[in-house]
Amino acid sequence: MKFFIDTANLGHIREAHELGILDGVTTNPSLMAKEGISGQANIGNHYRAICEIVVGDVSAEVIATDFKGMVEEGKRLADLAENIVVKVPMIKDGVKAIAHFVEIGIRTNCTLVFSAAQAILAAKAGASYVSPFIGRIDDTNWDGMLLIKEMAEIYAIQGYETEILAASIRSSRHIVEAAKNGADIVTCPLSAILGMLKHPLTDIGLEQFLADHRKVNG
Ligand code: G3P
Repeated sequence: MKFFIDTANLGHIREAHELGILDGVTTNPSLMAKEGISGQANIGNHYRAICEIVVGDVSAEVIATDFKGMVEEGKRLADLAENIVVKVPMIKDGVKAIAHFVEIGIRTNCTLVFSAAQAILAAKAGASYVSPFIGRIDDTNWDGMLLIKEMAEIYAIQGYETEILAASIRSSRHIVEAAKNGADIVTCPLSAILGMLKHPLTDIGLEQFLADHRKVNG
């Protein structure tokens, strides 16, 4: 399973990259706004800066919601760097735009996916990635992981090449469950990645090893 970081924060992206486990980055308009990035030129420069840190794919989301607007914006984003993947929402014009991007050789990430039906449509249109939002499904008292499991089964049966990118990941437990249920990629905040390092017995064990070493070595 590949690891993407879900942020527009350059410091967090660098930290995950330096850990040596980072395969890519996803962003969305909320994450860009959180970093205070506004205006077409600044947004473009920020994506370029992200693409200089990571060699893997970087998802850049369109703001337009009509076919023509999404195509224009997507082409502009794709021109910024070779590893840009255009993120397109799961709406009617979005599906149409994804199919068009396939024809002109631009890779896409279909976002805001909450059902297996939507996931089938995204794959059928030819999205490179599809992003089911696990945490937001959990927020509605449903089980987001059931969607990952169902999608993995359907994609395997149908031979779809679209990669399942588990998004809206909130904890290291989500990452483990996504791996068990067949996600190809998880995209998560730095806190969830660093959370995977933690176990109290690791800390206790290391403290003991070092104390024993000091007893005989000073
Ligand atoms: O990649 C989508 C993700 O950013 C949504 O996460 O935590 O806002 O539901 P969240």
